[in-house]
Amino acid sequence: MSFTPPRLRMAGVHKAFGATQALSGVDFTVRPSEVHALIGENGAGKSTLMKVLSGVHRADAGEMLIDGQPYRPADPLDARRQGVAMIYQELALAPHLSVSANVLLGVEPTARGLLDHAQERRRTQQALEDLGQTDIDPGTLVGSLSVGAQQLVEVARALVTDARIIVFDEPTSSLTRPNVERLFQVIRRLCERGVSVVYISHFLEEVEEVAASFTVLRDGRSVGCGEVGNVPTSEIIHQMVGRKLDDMFPRVLHQPGEPVLVLSGVSACGVESASMQLRRGEILGIAGLIGAGRTELLRAIFGLAAVRNGEIRIAEYHGPASPAERLSHGVGLLSEDRKDEGLALSLAVEDNIVLSDVGAYSRYGWLDRGALRRSASEWIDRMHVKTSAADAPVHSLSGGNQQKVQLARLLHHDCDVLLLDEPTRGIDVASKVQIYEWIGRLAAQGKAVLFVSSYIPELLGVCDTLAVMHRGRLGPAQPVGDWSEHSIMMAATGAGSFDRA
Ligand SMILES: Nc1ncnc2c1ncn2[C@@H]1O[C@H](COP(=O)(O)OP(=O)(O)OP(=O)(O)O)[C@@H](O)[C@H]1O
Ligand SMILES: [Mg+2]
Repeated sequence: MSFTPPRLRMAGVHKAFGATQALSGVDFTVRPSEVHALIGENGAGKSTLMKVLSGVHRADAGEMLIDGQPYRPADPLDARRQGVAMIYQELALAPHLSVSANVLLGVEPTARGLLDHAQERRRTQQALEDLGQTDIDPGTLVGSLSVGAQQLVEVARALVTDARIIVFDEPTSSLTRPNVERLFQVIRRLCERGVSVVYISHFLEEVEEVAASFTVLRDGRSVGCGEVGNVPTSEIIHQMVGRKLDDMFPRVLHQPGEPVLVLSGVSACGVESASMQLRRGEILGIAGLIGAGRTELLRAIFGLAAVRNGEIRIAEYHGPASPAERLSHGVGLLSEDRKDEGLALSLAVEDNIVLSDVGAYSRYGWLDRGALRRSASEWIDRMHVKTSAADAPVHSLSGGNQQKVQLARLLHHDCDVLLLDEPTRGIDVASKVQIYEWIGRLAAQGKAVLFVSSYIPELLGVCDTLAVMHRGRLGPAQPVGDWSEHSIMMAATGAGSFDRA
């Protein structure tokens, strides 16, 4: 019997950032033509390990072999030439260039010193065909494509350089279910063509659906691996967090009271019409496809977008208001986009947490650093934010921990009405449970919560009432018990009855 070496073998990989030991001796093996899931809590080291693989970071120690051959990439381009491609969550394409220009960026074909556009187009077409995606035109500007299609362009980009390993780091957090399925088809095709895929995700349902085997990282160490079908999900979670989780959706008793946020016939950019009532002590979920107008609705409520028609009433306030006024009305927004409007990435964790209320920490014009730090540290503990120090810059945190900082800021501000846009995006399973419990406790304190999410199980598990938004129209809110995953999907895709009227 001949011995086939693994596609990838990483052994004893160490990586530190200053005092933070991100990886402490990780072993990681991937077979040829398989989907291998890399899972673990926020800050476990998944992205760092893959950045070592793709030449972004150099390991402090350890070795790597690809198909049995030593592998030491000098930089990402070198890694790409050696067959390793990484698809990031925040896509790295040039929006003003065509699909084919993007696919061949850095490896453009030339004929007699000139760019060979015909060949560029042909090779792109071929790569898209290999992925089964013939409806993407190589001549289209990338900026005009949906997030899902852009991601597939990135995959095509990996194919033209004959990638042997393609890494997907949380690829589905901005995708709708049909696009997730499309991505999974593409991933299966990649494997048929002999590519090995590393798949990072916090959705264990997806891992079960697409991956053959898995490795669990915890605190920078590999703590378990196996075949997906042979190990129950509860055991995988146990390996991830070091304990059992009894209940994904802990219920905190709460009782809705009087209405606090009332929308009547509101329209705004991206919102056709929205009427609803949110009561104190109520958790109202809004489901819908990406682009249905949910983010735009929250932005209009928060005063970030102009209201064209209709009225927004919050407690005793009505009429237009700026975000600063909304904050003073007791309204807080957790933005979906943590990079652009959520966090000040270069500022310290502690400063981000108190950002909305710095004034509370000044005495006679002086900033009381001690008090600020004590309060921020409490939130860092409460939310289990993994950071080397309270004054470490937010950009040094892992994706999920950045999200926790954003949530901590909102909770620190003590709002009466919370507008949460995808609050658990990028958050690990155990921390999600914690956030659900927080939301329940807020409702028990009489706060009103508007909860936008694309992850239907959490809406069903956490909310009291639920409404679906489709093409800018918000449907009627109904008790959550009247909804099923199926009826939500029907309404979200426009197949539901309220939408046809
Ligand atoms: N550039 C950096 N500078 C300093 N620390 C870093 C840097 N990148 C990562 N870290 C630290 O390394 C550790 C591992 O982070 P990493 O991003 O690999 O986690 P992750 O498993 O991908 O988490 P998540 O699920 O939240 O994305 C964290 O403690 C993080 O703060
Ligand atoms: Mg990560």
